[in-house]
Amino acid sequence: MKKLSLLIGVIFILVSTISFAEMGSKEPSLPKDWRSFIHAKSMVIPDKSHDLYGFHHIYVNKTGLETLKKGGKYPQGTIFIGVFYDVVTEKDNSIHQGKKLFYVYMKKDKAATETGGWTYAVFDPNGKYLKKDVKTECYACHSTVKDSDYIFTKFIE
Ligand code: HEC
Repeated sequence: MKKLSLLIGVIFILVSTISFAEMGSKEPSLPKDWRSFIHAKSMVIPDKSHDLYGFHHIYVNKTGLETLKKGGKYPQGTIFIGVFYDVVTEKDNSIHQGKKLFYVYMKKDKAATETGGWTYAVFDPNGKYLKKDVKTECYACHSTVKDSDYIFTKFIE
């Protein structure tokens, strides 16, 4: 009996270690095929002191496209990518995309109960995951658009 409870104890520790390791590796990663997502809209904020400074291009994957056009709750697996670039004004006053600054990412995941059912992430220009307190740095602002399932973007045809 003693041996059995010891065995159960060992199995329990093993299982919890494995699931803990899995949790740790659940860091979001930038989808390799983000460039083939559907472009939804762009915006430029040229004021460098603004939190959202830059040239933004917003993309959605196929899973979320219909909801973005029609409205409602996004299906599990929807991904939005926002790519931010420097704003460069040339001598002829034309405004261009400069170097890439970072990516923002949201993925619909019903397990993300603390942040409205979306996983949030930021990646550097090389796609490296940057750790953020997404609850205060992302969700706090996105929760102001709860009625559109936390998404600001409106699709532009
Ligand atoms: C001050 C408010 C604010 C904060 C803070 C903020 N966002 Fe956003 N976010 C916006 C706005 C406004 C847009 C629409 C931008 C556009 O149309 O170019 C947006 C767009 C997005 C999009 C495209 C989907 C959508 O909602 O339109 C993603 C993905 C995103 N943000 C992720 C993030 C992440 C990750 C963070 C935290 C690091 C973050 N955001 C912090 C306001 C905010």
